[in-house]
Amino acid sequence: KQLAPQPENTKTQSLAPHTADAAGEQMNTNTGLPINDDQNSLKAGDRGPSLLEDFLFREKMTHFDHERIPERVVHARGSGAHGVFKLYKPLTEYTKAAFLNNTDVETPVFVRFSTVAGSRGSTDLARDVRGFAAKFYTTEGNFDLVGNNMPVFFIQDAVKFPDLVHAVKPEPDNEIPQAASAHDTFWDFISLMPESAHMIMWAMSDRAIPRSYRMMEGFGVHTFRLINAEGKASFVKFHWKPLLGVHSVAWDEAQNISGKDPDFHRRDLWDAIESGNFPEYELGLQIIPEEDEFKYDFDLLDSTKLVPEELVPVQRVGKLTLNRNPDNFFAETEQIAYHIGHVVPGIDFTNDPLLQGRLFSYTDTQLTRLGGPNFQEIPINRPIVPVHNNQRDGFMRQTINRGKTSYNPNSLSGNDPQQVKESAGGFVSYRERIEARKERLRNKSFFDHFSQARLFFNSQSDPEKNHIVDALTFELGKVKTIAIRERMLGILVQIDKDLATQVAYGLGLHLPDVLPTNQSIPADGNPADYQSVQVDG
Ligand code: HEM
Repeated sequence: KQLAPQPENTKTQSLAPHTADAAGEQMNTNTGLPINDDQNSLKAGDRGPSLLEDFLFREKMTHFDHERIPERVVHARGSGAHGVFKLYKPLTEYTKAAFLNNTDVETPVFVRFSTVAGSRGSTDLARDVRGFAAKFYTTEGNFDLVGNNMPVFFIQDAVKFPDLVHAVKPEPDNEIPQAASAHDTFWDFISLMPESAHMIMWAMSDRAIPRSYRMMEGFGVHTFRLINAEGKASFVKFHWKPLLGVHSVAWDEAQNISGKDPDFHRRDLWDAIESGNFPEYELGLQIIPEEDEFKYDFDLLDSTKLVPEELVPVQRVGKLTLNRNPDNFFAETEQIAYHIGHVVPGIDFTNDPLLQGRLFSYTDTQLTRLGGPNFQEIPINRPIVPVHNNQRDGFMRQTINRGKTSYNPNSLSGNDPQQVKESAGGFVSYRERIEARKERLRNKSFFDHFSQARLFFNSQSDPEKNHIVDALTFELGKVKTIAIRERMLGILVQIDKDLATQVAYGLGLHLPDVLPTNQSIPADGNPADYQSVQVDG
């Protein structure tokens, strides 16, 4: 029974013509032929055989045979909801983005929460990072904030992402385990990548086992840019702050719940919205003046670092309310295509090498996952503004473009789409001056892998610290290769000696035993240096 009102907005109106409600309608084929018998296939005689001629059977079975599409290569397990975003105060000083300037507008949003490592049918309460992706359907096109529930990431450079994911995902010979962390390949990789130390602290903390999607923060992770109408840029970190606060379950509870209800978070989100108990999150911004780019002892372009809120407070600038469940999981939650490259005028990128790589990856994977170049025409992906350009054809094209010309410039057509001047809202990339040598390297400003890991560990209360120790002991206890456990202790000791000592104790190892391995890890070296230490050693 539907208890909550079903609010309308410009996006739900745009979806309406694509929805179907069959109640009381006659059953027919995809070509509209009324169906008389959907119970029996066409047979020769009373007891068969079935006839190839049976086009009704063939149509039904062929469609069924092709119902599945590839799951997302990461974040396969997810749950979505519609909502609206309302701005508290105009941000004209920082950005010209229309949806961040007008407090009267309610911007439609579709959010998808997810785990990262498990497959589509895996349990919600795995110890894992959670995705928090939001698509804002603005009057200037879609803006996607594709974030996680942790403010940092495992790696600094996108070129390591396939390695990270190959290590995190179930091992290739036996597809075990679904859990993100408890296996040799994951900890092997992590123990060889000191840059993951900070993220590992978050991933082994209570943040990795949220009580509910309604009680989870979200972070854009990278430093982005805001640009105002005068062309002045500021750096920005995006945050979501849940109005219910941040809550987690204990690991024992997580394991119990996973056994009893693998849909725990999905059910919680659905039921809350059905009962009118709408999840709410405030959008937070940490705004950093461009002049302050080099003010900190970490690099703003390094996604393994956060900007401490004590240094740059989070301003709460608006509220997202999730107020409607999807009508159809596949059509909406599964087919939605997020991409951090979906920006609007007034929001732009930085040179964070992780962000830069993501700009390639999302569209690329969606071309396969959603079957070709026309996936932006799928109703959930369409912007609320009409689309006009010279892109044409391809598998599953929906739009019937009129006219003879699909090129620009042309002198034949009176109605081809026109480029939009910057002053009229046309997107112009931020005019950043680049003077550089082309080189494959990592800047020294990315080398301190342990200070913020330590800061995070020390920011935890005693029970929370104990949970981190327990999590590491539990997860590393599943690792079969003792050298990997020892190498991890070598990483942990550089974060906090007590932490390493307790984990070592739990694993039945003595810290002194592992110090020689530890000493071979350059305290501030990058992974490339580390590899060479290994090879030479
Ligand atoms: C999903 C790539 C880092 C958040 C995905 C997908 C890919 C991908 C290929 C599947 C998309 C789809 O099938 O539609 C990458 C690469 C990364 C990276 C190459 C780094 C180089 C990150 C980071 C975050 C993040 C740092 C968080 C800030 C997400 C989320 C989803 C996702 C939330 C799920 C989106 C959804 O719900 O559909 N990523 N990712 N990713 N990624 Fe990333």
